[in-house]
Amino acid sequence: MRPIKVAILGFGTVGSGVYELIETKQDLLEQLLGGPVRVDAVLVKDVGKSRTIHDDVLVTDDFSEILRLPELDVVIEAIVNVEPGYTYLRRAIEAGLYVVTANKELFANKGFELRQLAEKRGVKVCFEATVAGGVPIIGALKQLLRFNQVVKVEAILNGTMNYILTKMREDQVSLEEALLQAQRLGYAEADPANDVEGFDVLFKVVILLELLTGRKIDWDLVRCSGISDITPADISQASVRGERIKHVGSLVVDDQGQVEAEVRPVSVGESHKLYAIEGVDNAIVVTGDLTGDLVFQGPGAGKYPTASIMIEDLVSIFQSIKKAAVSR
Ligand SMILES: NC(=O)c1ccc[n+]([C@@H]2O[C@H](COP(=O)([O-])OP(=O)(O)OC[C@H]3O[C@@H](n4cnc5c(N)ncnc54)[C@H](OP(=O)(O)O)[C@@H]3O)[C@@H](O)[C@H]2O)c1
Repeated sequence: MRPIKVAILGFGTVGSGVYELIETKQDLLEQLLGGPVRVDAVLVKDVGKSRTIHDDVLVTDDFSEILRLPELDVVIEAIVNVEPGYTYLRRAIEAGLYVVTANKELFANKGFELRQLAEKRGVKVCFEATVAGGVPIIGALKQLLRFNQVVKVEAILNGTMNYILTKMREDQVSLEEALLQAQRLGYAEADPANDVEGFDVLFKVVILLELLTGRKIDWDLVRCSGISDITPADISQASVRGERIKHVGSLVVDDQGQVEAEVRPVSVGESHKLYAIEGVDNAIVVTGDLTGDLVFQGPGAGKYPTASIMIEDLVSIFQSIKKAAVSR
């Protein structure tokens, strides 16, 4: 079998993790896919930065060069912001390439359009890493959607916010102090607005809603607030009641497909499944009409958890192509 040829867009925490895992896990990939996986190109913003990339890999800031590569199969995208990623992924799909993305902001804004375009073009767009990083919740929901109806999802989807709320309670410090600690440990961005104001969780809730309903979601439907107004007094009053404040994204789908969704701090008691989720972990409680509550918990971010989940997407794309070829 000829190698599966990959271009990686973005070579930061996630993109470099994808590259390293493809380099170091060739034997396993060959076992899973029946042939090697080869990185032919890496696209970045600043080609002058020093990076550990083999000399025979094209490093470029020009997406047209990527599209001109012979026999490219798949584009793995880990850039930030909606653009230029959206334009690149649209062009990749139009050129008949498969797409794997971790970019939640892009996918919350444009995922519906990309999936529609991919369906028309007969390729796949995989986005497991956009929600809860290393926790394979998209695949689990797709699995459940076959027979169960998912009626409710409640989730902690931002590890940084969960770390801050945990620190505020454990160390009795202000939000600003807990945020500084999160930044020192590399959990929080230098500009934490998307996290603290709840937008990062909003992106993930929109992606889940579009998956569950199959419709384009109007963002105004989702009430969104972050944790910027939470004070140490709120945290200690919750503790007195035997509760903890968690930042929760939740959605309810009725049997007519109508949805209600919100993102906000919630005070939960000991019996709630999100009560014990502490530190940087993510957790998603999915209620199926027949299964009842299922809890998925794990690392919502990080280089190898996120990169490995993107490679899981790559493997499932090419395993399903192989299966389809065999059954023909
Ligand atoms: N970090 C995580 O744990 C995690 C988890 C889940 C999802 N994600 C998502 O994955 C994506 C990447 O995250 P990250 O943490 O890897 O980001 P990062 O470390 O900041 O890396 C971003 C990469 O994108 C490149 N880039 C930025 N603007 C570009 C442009 N205009 N054209 C071409 N390349 C551009 C940068 O190029 P230069 O190298 O030249 O600067 C850099 O290589 C984001 O959408 C994020 O939301 C991240």
